[in-house]
Amino acid sequence: MSELHSKRLLGKVVVVTGAARGQGAAEADALTREGARVIATDVTGAPGCRRLDVTSDKEWAELAAELKEAYGQVHGLVNNAGITWRARLGDVRTDDFHRVHAVNVTGPLLGIQHLAPLMPRGSSIVNVGSSAALTGHYPVAYTASKWALRGLSKTAALELGPRGIRVNTIHPGYIETEMTASAAPAFREANIRETPLGRTGTVGEVTPLVVFLLSDDSSFITGAEIAVDGGLTAHGGVKSVSDALRAEGP
Ligand code: NAI
Repeated sequence: MSELHSKRLLGKVVVVTGAARGQGAAEADALTREGARVIATDVTGAPGCRRLDVTSDKEWAELAAELKEAYGQVHGLVNNAGITWRARLGDVRTDDFHRVHAVNVTGPLLGIQHLAPLMPRGSSIVNVGSSAALTGHYPVAYTASKWALRGLSKTAALELGPRGIRVNTIHPGYIETEMTASAAPAFREANIRETPLGRTGTVGEVTPLVVFLLSDDSSFITGAEIAVDGGLTAHGGVKSVSDALRAEGP
C-alpha cells in the first residue's frame, strides 16, 4: 500500500480536546500520522497544545472563529477531555458534582455547538465515554456525567444525521494513563479481576478506534457506542470493583 493510500485522514481538520497527555495526546499523534491537520487542545496550554478549557463557551467561540478563518471547515472533533472525582454517593458535594459535569458533559455539548456549524457532510464527532457509562461505577459524579454524555451523543447523532455528520461514543475500560495512575492500587487490581482479557489496556489500543470512527471507513456508523475494555462491561458485573474499594476505606 502506498504511503498516500495508507493515510486515511488526509485533508481533514480535526480538533482533539484534553490532548496534553494520556489518551488525548495519543489520539492527536495517531490522527496526525493518518494525515489529519490536528488541533490539539488542552486546558493546561501544554507545549504543542492550543489552550482550550472545554467548559468555556467563550474559548470555544474563539477557537471556532480561528478555525473558520484558517481552514474554513472542520471535519472532526474528539471530545476526549474528562476529569474524574472519586467521592461516593453519600459524600459527594454538589460543587464537585457540577464541576465534573461541566467538563465531561457541558464541554462536549459546547464543542458540538461551536464546531458542527463548520462541518461539511462526512464529518465525524467522537465522544469519549467510559465503562462507567455502562455500569453502576462507584464514583457517582463521574458515572452520572458519562451516562449523560451517552444521552447527548444519541441526541447529537439524531440532530446532525440529516447534515451528514456522524456522532459516535467510545467506552474505554481501564487504560493506563495518569488518570488511572491516581487511583488506589486496589482499583487497578479489581479492574483486572473483572476484565475477561485479564489485563489493563493501553492508549495505543484506543487510538485505532478513534481513527476508524473519524475516517470515511465508518461512513455508515453513527449513534453507536463501542467499548474498548477487554470485555469489562460485556459480562455486566462490576460489583467487585466497588467492594474492593469500599474495603480500602476512603
Ligand atoms: P488524563 O487525566 O490523563 O488526561 C485528561 C486530559 O484532559 C488532561 O490533559 C487534562 O489537562 C485535560 N483536561 C481536564 N480538564 C479539562 C478542561 N476543562 N478543558 C480541557 N482539557 C481538560 O485522562 P485520560 O485517561 O487520558 O482520559 C481521557 C478520556 O478518557 C477522559 O474523558 C476520561 O474520562 C476517559 N476515560 C479514561 C479511562 C482510563 O482508564 N484512563 C477509562 C474510561 C474513560
